[in-house]
Amino acid sequence: MLIFLSLLSSLISAGAESASSSRSSPAPVVYQPPVTLELENIAVRASSQLLITSVVSPTLHTFDPTAINGKFDAVHTFPNVTGLTGIVEYRPDVFALLASRLNSTTGNMAPGSISAWSVDFNAPTPLVREIGPLADTPNANGLTALPTAPDILLFSDSTLGAVWQLDARTGASRIAIQDPSMLPSAAPVVGINAGINGLHVRLEAQTPYLYFTNTHLATFSRVALEFKRGNVSAAGPIQTLATIPQPPAIQQQDPDDFALDERGRAWVTVHPGAITVFSPPAHETTGNWSQTTVLGDVNGTDAQLFQPTSAAFGRGSLVQSKTLYVVTAGSQVVAIDTTD
Ligand SMILES: *[C@@H]1O[C@H](CO)[C@@H](O)[C@H](O)[C@H]1NC(C)=O
Ligand SMILES: *[C@@H]1O[C@H](CO)[C@@H](O)[C@H](O)[C@H]1NC(C)=O
Ligand SMILES: *[C@@H]1O[C@H](CO)[C@@H](O)[C@H](O)[C@H]1NC(C)=O
Ligand SMILES: *[C@@H]1O[C@H](CO)[C@@H](O)[C@H](O)[C@H]1NC(C)=O
Ligand SMILES: *[C@@H]1O[C@H](CO)[C@@H](O)[C@H](O)[C@H]1NC(C)=O
Repeated sequence: MLIFLSLLSSLISAGAESASSSRSSPAPVVYQPPVTLELENIAVRASSQLLITSVVSPTLHTFDPTAINGKFDAVHTFPNVTGLTGIVEYRPDVFALLASRLNSTTGNMAPGSISAWSVDFNAPTPLVREIGPLADTPNANGLTALPTAPDILLFSDSTLGAVWQLDARTGASRIAIQDPSMLPSAAPVVGINAGINGLHVRLEAQTPYLYFTNTHLATFSRVALEFKRGNVSAAGPIQTLATIPQPPAIQQQDPDDFALDERGRAWVTVHPGAITVFSPPAHETTGNWSQTTVLGDVNGTDAQLFQPTSAAFGRGSLVQSKTLYVVTAGSQVVAIDTTD
């Protein structure tokens, strides 16, 4: 992979010149750190700054996509861990993230090594605080927040097939939902064996809906949530909205994290190398969502979109809000112009 990436560097610097080109041309890589990092997750501050985690680095990095020659700057290095996974803003400019001692090949986290942290940017230097250890989960992957309960976080457990709730004030956690639609494969698989992976909540007519991918099952699903007397639970059935087809390909099509846009569409990162937009049916509330691959293909032949892991829309200006930032395990930060 190192050799592969060094071959790419000339392509990548060419791509960086056309940061506002349309999706018909290759996705422009806006940044590739000098040290190869398997980038994992992305969150965006109101100031436009990106916050980026890597499964092979204990350091949270920030990147300014509006700067001419932006680079990764370290925000904080977390103690006694090797990698970071999910990250989410849960109060204005206050982010939570997950840290662990992680085998990036297997995705296994060392038992007892997982913890959740808070990083508060409302201070001259970011205020870092441990939310608490997560002793009872074998895997803490994606992270999101419940908009109807400010300090309640939800993380995906890709091993147990569960969504955990975590109180950012107390560090208390419990399984909120566990379901077969969230499980990985019981048998060894070629490729990534993770169940529920990316997860995000969207408010629809006051009801919070949790959307999630299952990497192994290649599904995109949702479930309505309720929050009663401190506990999050499912308020309805889990609906599978779409299943990614598995054509002949060099690797199974494995959905990872995604970003929801203002029209309710989901921009899903799919391993080995595609961005697929899932759109709700136009006039119905039931029925499968349609899928369109807007970038890359089933075999990941777009060298500038190598194993995409997470996506988030920019913030801070109209141009930024139409730009989808994608990070890849191939150590790339990619900007996609999503203007129609
Ligand atoms: C990760 O797991 C693989 C497969 O079991 C193993 O070969 C490798 O040594 C592990 N790496 C670390 C850093 O533990
Ligand atoms: C680091 O984490 C391991 C578990 O992964 C634990 O056994 C060890 O005590 C920790 N070390 C420190 C200094 O916290
Ligand atoms: C919340 O869930 C926990 C178990 O996770 C349970 O012990 C507790 O009784 C529940 N609280 C309420 C108010 O239902
Ligand atoms: C992807 O690769 C597989 C296996 O090599 C091949 O059969 C298939 O035609 C390829 N698909 C595309 C769209 O290139
Ligand atoms: C929805 O997708 C599932 C799985 O691919 C399929 O079995 C089902 O027939 C589809 N339903 C409709 C209405 O197209």
